[in-house]
Amino acid sequence: MDFLQDFVAQLRTVHVDHLERKWINISLLIIGLLVAIIMTDAFFHGVNPPSKVETIDSARLHLSKEFAENNLGVQLDDKGAIMVRMVAGRYSFFPKHISVPAETKLTFRWVSMDVLHGVHIPMTNMSTMIVPGYVAEITTSFPKPGEYPVLCNEYCGLGHNHMWSNISVIAKEDWQCSTETDCKKGIKQ
Ligand code: CUA
Repeated sequence: MDFLQDFVAQLRTVHVDHLERKWINISLLIIGLLVAIIMTDAFFHGVNPPSKVETIDSARLHLSKEFAENNLGVQLDDKGAIMVRMVAGRYSFFPKHISVPAETKLTFRWVSMDVLHGVHIPMTNMSTMIVPGYVAEITTSFPKPGEYPVLCNEYCGLGHNHMWSNISVIAKEDWQCSTETDCKKGIKQ
């Protein structure tokens, strides 16, 4: 605290020209205004970091309820919302292949079973790190039908450049939750 008082006292002895002081105040005012705008916007739009600091035991994924093998992939709940659970591990994404509808809101939950991975799907907002011990949840949608690559974009070992998978995006009206599209209905978490 003494240090701070000394610092302020010293600042006071510094001569600042009247015009300079005016500009200092104007810049501080602009910074304050920008911070206020960001805070207000974040507050009213519920902005939060992409991964909501949700933790999970990466070594016991297969024993966890949510990421047990038969719960992975695309799931349709009773309200018609689509949830996709994916596990990243050296050197693949599991399940290796999924099918989802285009132009539909999809919630992806990614976890790693070993080291740090990343996931990038071109032409979507999907680009995040998959940190062991944490769940990365991202909401996205695919603009049009087609085959989309799923790429690992964090160096994870010698096989990193072979770590990819793909997603078949089907026209919204043609997509149906069935075993053919690897989709499961109403699985309890
Ligand atoms: Cu996984 Cu690079």
